[in-house]
Amino acid sequence: MNFYIMTLFPEMIMGSLSSSITGRAQDKGYISFDAVNIRDYSTDKHHKVDDYTYGGGAGMLMQAQPIYDCYLSIEKKVLERSGKKPRVIYVTPQGETFNQNKASELAKEENLVFLCGHYEGVDERVLEEIVTDYISIGDYVLTGGELPAMVMIDAISRLVPGVLNNDESAMTESFNNNLLEYPQYSRPEEWMGKKVPPILLSGDHKKVDEWRLEKSIERTKERRPDLYEKWLIENPPKPEKKKRRRKKASAIGDSIDIEAKTDLANDIDN
Ligand code: ADE
Repeated sequence: MNFYIMTLFPEMIMGSLSSSITGRAQDKGYISFDAVNIRDYSTDKHHKVDDYTYGGGAGMLMQAQPIYDCYLSIEKKVLERSGKKPRVIYVTPQGETFNQNKASELAKEENLVFLCGHYEGVDERVLEEIVTDYISIGDYVLTGGELPAMVMIDAISRLVPGVLNNDESAMTESFNNNLLEYPQYSRPEEWMGKKVPPILLSGDHKKVDEWRLEKSIERTKERRPDLYEKWLIENPPKPEKKKRRRKKASAIGDSIDIEAKTDLANDIDN
């Protein structure tokens, strides 16, 4: 996966994405980052990239020409490489909200271009010309598009095969199946008078898995009732109670079946 980021602050992007897991993945060739400076494409003699807004209003607007020429240089590279035009994401609070599903969808692309806005926005005409997706990272306004672009790139990168090592990808994670992750503990067994739940020290993997599922359900219900509702819809409670206990007893690890999960949810509900 190749990420191209159109920005006025390439050093901000490269500094951040070249560290940690995304940096390692780039070194290993699973992903690449190319932060392209929009200013380098300005035809203005002072390399100006912004101007006043027609019709008045506060603030400056990013102009169409430098962005378009910057995009064309990227499009040329992508076409040479893959023969297909890339998706171009404009990061904006006016876009659809980014989530794990969107990350999975975008992780299937071979090339992705991000356009990071600044000042009061971008001339609409260049957006109409090049943008395929308008995406926001949430209902708040940031000073520029670099941080949202990096958030999305991080979430997408870790879904690209090879980027996470086995230990990292084996982790059961929040948002899988609409459940949040269970609480986790490391050494020491007791800290500030708080003990690690004894079941986690028992060595009984079935019981540990059952406990974790129960905590995941509990936590989701408490912290993200919206996700819990979605999970319940996918795992509807079953009517009869008789088989319940038997099923619940086998609610373990990979063998946890949907009915058993629902039983646990019922227990938590009651
Ligand atoms: N640019 C400024 N705020 C933003 C947000 N919340 N999401 C995406 N891009 C933005």
